[in-house]
Amino acid sequence: MKARGESGNNQAAIEAILSSETPVRAGRRAYQPSLCSRLQAGAGATRPLGGVKMEVLKAARDQLPFVSRNRLLEIVPAPEKPPEHPCRLGVVLSGGPAPGGHNVIAGLFAAAKRAHPEHRLLGFLGGPTGIISNRHQEITAEMVAHFKNSGGFHMLGTGRDKIDTPPKMEQCRRTCAALGLSGLVVVGGDDSNTNAAFLAENLRETGTQVIGIPKTIDGDLQVPGLLQIPFGFHSACMAFATEIGNLNSDCKSDLKYWHFSRLMGRSASHIALEVAFQTHPNVILIGEEIEENDLTIHNVVRLIADVVVQRAQLGKNFGTILIPEGILEFIQEINALIIKVSHIIAKYNREASEEESFHKLTFEDQVQLIDNSDIWRDYDSRVFLGLPPELQRGLLLPRDSHGNFQYSLVNTERILLGMVATYLRKQRSKGIYKGTFKTQNHYYGYDGRGTFPTNFDCVYAYNLGHVAFSLLQAGATGYMAAINGLDRPLQDWQPLGIPLAPLMHLEERVGRLELVIQKQNVDLHSPAFKVLAREREKWAHEDDYRFPGPIQFSGPGADDKPITLRLNALGEGGPAIP
Ligand code: FBP
Repeated sequence: MKARGESGNNQAAIEAILSSETPVRAGRRAYQPSLCSRLQAGAGATRPLGGVKMEVLKAARDQLPFVSRNRLLEIVPAPEKPPEHPCRLGVVLSGGPAPGGHNVIAGLFAAAKRAHPEHRLLGFLGGPTGIISNRHQEITAEMVAHFKNSGGFHMLGTGRDKIDTPPKMEQCRRTCAALGLSGLVVVGGDDSNTNAAFLAENLRETGTQVIGIPKTIDGDLQVPGLLQIPFGFHSACMAFATEIGNLNSDCKSDLKYWHFSRLMGRSASHIALEVAFQTHPNVILIGEEIEENDLTIHNVVRLIADVVVQRAQLGKNFGTILIPEGILEFIQEINALIIKVSHIIAKYNREASEEESFHKLTFEDQVQLIDNSDIWRDYDSRVFLGLPPELQRGLLLPRDSHGNFQYSLVNTERILLGMVATYLRKQRSKGIYKGTFKTQNHYYGYDGRGTFPTNFDCVYAYNLGHVAFSLLQAGATGYMAAINGLDRPLQDWQPLGIPLAPLMHLEERVGRLELVIQKQNVDLHSPAFKVLAREREKWAHEDDYRFPGPIQFSGPGADDKPITLRLNALGEGGPAIP
């Protein structure tokens, strides 16, 4: 039997081993992101930046008359003016988490305290709903030190609430007035920056300026020539690339599995493109190219199956396949179904009681209702009924609060895998395919949103927090804080204030057109895409796998930037990828 003291010692040892303070987390806290030259001496001043034409859509001018007048700004160093009195600022994390969010807060906090030690920063809890219901917490130096350089958004939590009705806007106005906020920073993607634009328009009378921050792992919040990439994209891609590199290594070792991996990214294929450069898979699908070539879902199945057949002829019954989560949106026949199904559901729900709403019906009743709708032409209805039930189920899923189709809930990789297997069976019966087709399927999404941010994202997000403060101090509202020239050395980064109104367009959401910030798809004419088009044939047949390994925080590669960013910066005819 052990003496009492001994078990007490063991307990202490066990607690030390299981401590939630991991060495990596502690090490990351000690990392201090640097500032670009223009932000080093203080918040600086803004000045208009000419030479870029930014047109505002009529619908945006009508709905956002005040913020539509904004012009593009750049931030330049200027002698600091001591502020007359301390002010209160608010910040909200919004939408899906993205690595680096805590560093935006750290940067904003540091910039505010540098300008006036009595400035205060309030963080709204749980996303935009925190503003609506005035749930907030004062951000302290201890909180910042604790969360700095860590992944996720758990310092404040997040949510996807859309501030889309007069009562919700009125609640926000009351919260900002009650707290006496002179500025509000909204950290989010396209929908959250849309919220920021409407808040800026509606809060001008309460004296609260609003600035958005470009965040999303999807990489689709870009402004050609001004904003190359949002923060969070690089870290998530590197987390996914670690996994795909490991699958490359596994399948090249036991030579027996085809790995079908779906990668997050609601609509555009930026993540899949970046991860492909990082890992050199055997097959990579790019949604935008599928759309450009007008491919049907059966064409896409063929595209994958052809590589499987060709590799089998080389004796290779293994490989890795990358499938962007948003691919369905780019398959014209499926996208048309998504839009029509949304119309039918919206129409039905307008007339049905809460208890009988569409998503409370059984799957069979839902299919029946869709099939009976009078908006179908015969052909569409047959396309829908001819799809595998798993895909039908996916198309009937509810939209999110912003009216986005929830691609993350559709097992597209399993659906495609099943369809490829069926096609290969037919090829085998014709004697064309003689290989073995053993498969594994994977989904990489939420894990990448919570990963530790790369050094690039730590520094980028920290600088964005400072840019937001500079814009607020200069009196700007209805802008997105941005940094141009991210491919260049840190000292040459160019902080900007991009007006939100010209970024907006009309988009179909739950059966009607809405004014939202336009997402940017993969540009098929970009240098990065052209490099992919050149390299992927080799990746399909030779096993040219790349193994990026885990995200590095020191040593070689620690300060790397996204490959797509580097390739696009090289421009046409740049050297082969490193
Ligand atoms: P944001 O646009 O808010 O950054 O979120 C993007 C995303 O991560 C998509 O890639 C994904 O399809 C979606 O969020 C998942 O949403 P949810 O968190 O609601 O499941």
